[in-house]
Amino acid sequence: MTTPTKYLLDESQLPKFWYNIAADLPKAPPPVLHPGTLQPVGPDDLAPLFPMELILQEVSTEREIEIPEPVREIYRLWRPAPLYRAHRLEKALGTPAKIFYKYEGVSPAGSHKPNTAVPQAFYNAQAGTKRLTTETGAGQWGTSLSFAGQLFGLEVLVFQVRVSYDQKPYRRAVMETYGARCLPSPSTETEYGRRVLAQRPDHPGSLGIAISEAVELAAQREDTKYALGSVLNHVLLHQTVIGLEAMEQLQMADAWPDVIVGATGGGSNFAGIAFPFIGHGLRGGARPRVVAVEPAACPSLTRGRYAYDFGDTAHLTPLTKMHTLGSTFTPPPFHAGGLRYHGMAPLVSHLKELGLIEAVAYTQTQCFEAGVLFARCEGIVPAPEANHAVKGAIEEALRCKREGRSETILFNLCGHGHFDMAAYQKYFAGELKDETYDERELAMALAGLPSVPEPA
Ligand SMILES: Cc1ncc(COP(=O)(O)O)c(C=O)c1O
Repeated sequence: MTTPTKYLLDESQLPKFWYNIAADLPKAPPPVLHPGTLQPVGPDDLAPLFPMELILQEVSTEREIEIPEPVREIYRLWRPAPLYRAHRLEKALGTPAKIFYKYEGVSPAGSHKPNTAVPQAFYNAQAGTKRLTTETGAGQWGTSLSFAGQLFGLEVLVFQVRVSYDQKPYRRAVMETYGARCLPSPSTETEYGRRVLAQRPDHPGSLGIAISEAVELAAQREDTKYALGSVLNHVLLHQTVIGLEAMEQLQMADAWPDVIVGATGGGSNFAGIAFPFIGHGLRGGARPRVVAVEPAACPSLTRGRYAYDFGDTAHLTPLTKMHTLGSTFTPPPFHAGGLRYHGMAPLVSHLKELGLIEAVAYTQTQCFEAGVLFARCEGIVPAPEANHAVKGAIEEALRCKREGRSETILFNLCGHGHFDMAAYQKYFAGELKDETYDERELAMALAGLPSVPEPA
C-alpha cells in the first residue's frame, strides 16, 4: 500500500473553536502600555480602533474561543485546508525525515490571511462599523480584507507599501475586484503620509508607515475602524485553525511533529500552525522544537531588541514589548513584502524569551533557491514569504540526513506565489540581490526606542 500524499478533513471537521495560548503560558506576557501614561491600556483605550469583541479576544485568557457560525460558513469556502506529505521533496533531499506541510494557498486570497480577515470583518459589521482601513505589504492581507469586507458590506481602504504596490500591480486589481480602494503608501491622503513624502519623495514605504496612515484615518471617524493583518493576539488566535486542523490530519497519518517550522513577518501564520502544538506540550503532551524563519534583511527575532516599542512609525499605537528593530527602521525593499515589518508579535516574542521557540534568518536568494526546489518537486510555487518556511524545513531535513534521524517535520506553506512571478523572473535572471539593511540606520532606530521603566 502506498503512503498517502494528502490528508483531507471533511467540512464537518472544521474547528468550532480557536485556541488561545494565553491560557497555557507558564508566565503572562508583559502588559500593553499607553504611550502617554505608560500604564497598562484598558479596553476603552483601544475602542476608537477596534470593535469590543476583538478587544475582548485580545485580552482573553480563555483557552477556547468559539468561532461564530457565519465565520465558519465562510471558512468552508476553502477550509479545512489540505495537509500534504512532501514525498518528492524528501526523495530529492535524500532525507530519512518525513516532511508534512499545511497548505494555506487554497484560500480565495492565496494565503492564510483570510483566516483572520473574515472574523475581523464579521465582528466589525456586527458592531456597526461601515468602513475599514488597513495596511498591506505583499498585498495578501489587503486582498483578504477586501474579500472579507465585501462579504459583510464594509467599505475597505488599503494602504499598500509603495515598493510592493509597484512590484505587484495585479494585487491592486484583485483588491479592486473585491470592491476595495488601494493606495500606495506613503500617500498624500494622510497628514503623516504627506510628512514622510516631504522628507523623501521617493520613499519605498514600510509596513510601519502604512499602519500609521491607516490608523490616522480610522481614528478620525466614528464609522471607521482599523484592521491589522498580523502581530496582535486576536489575529494570532484566529490563525490557530491552521494548527488545530493539522493536529487532526497528522493523527490520520499516525504522525506527530518533532519540529515545526514557519515563516515570520509579524508572526501570525507561524503562531497559527505552532501555538496549538506548543499548548499541547505545555499541558503535558509531546514538546516539538519550533523554529521561526525570518529574512536576514529584516531580522527582528534574531537581531532585534526585546523592548517596548510602537507598532507604527508615526507612534500612534500603544507600546508593546516585542523583538523590534525600532519603529523608524525601514527594511530594504526585498521581495517578501509581507516580512518587512520592524517588530514581532508580542506573544511570539514572549515565547522566544521563555525558550519555547527558536529563530533563524536566511537571505532572500537562499529562500528562492529552496522555493524553486520545492516547486519542482511538489508542484506548488510558494509565495516569497512562504519560501522562508520551505528553506527552514529543508535545513531541518538535511540535518536529519546528516544525523541519520527520521524525524517528522511540519511546516506551514502560508501562500502561493502566483502574484510574485516578477520576483521569480528576477531570481532566474540573477538579478535578485541579497540586500542588507543599513547597520547605522538600525543603530539609530534602536537608539530611538522609547524609554520605558521596567516594572518593579
Ligand atoms: C504569504 C504571506 N506569508 C507571510 C506573511 C507574514 O505575515 P505573518 O508573519 O503575520 O504570517 C505575509 C504577510 O503579508 C504573507 O502575505
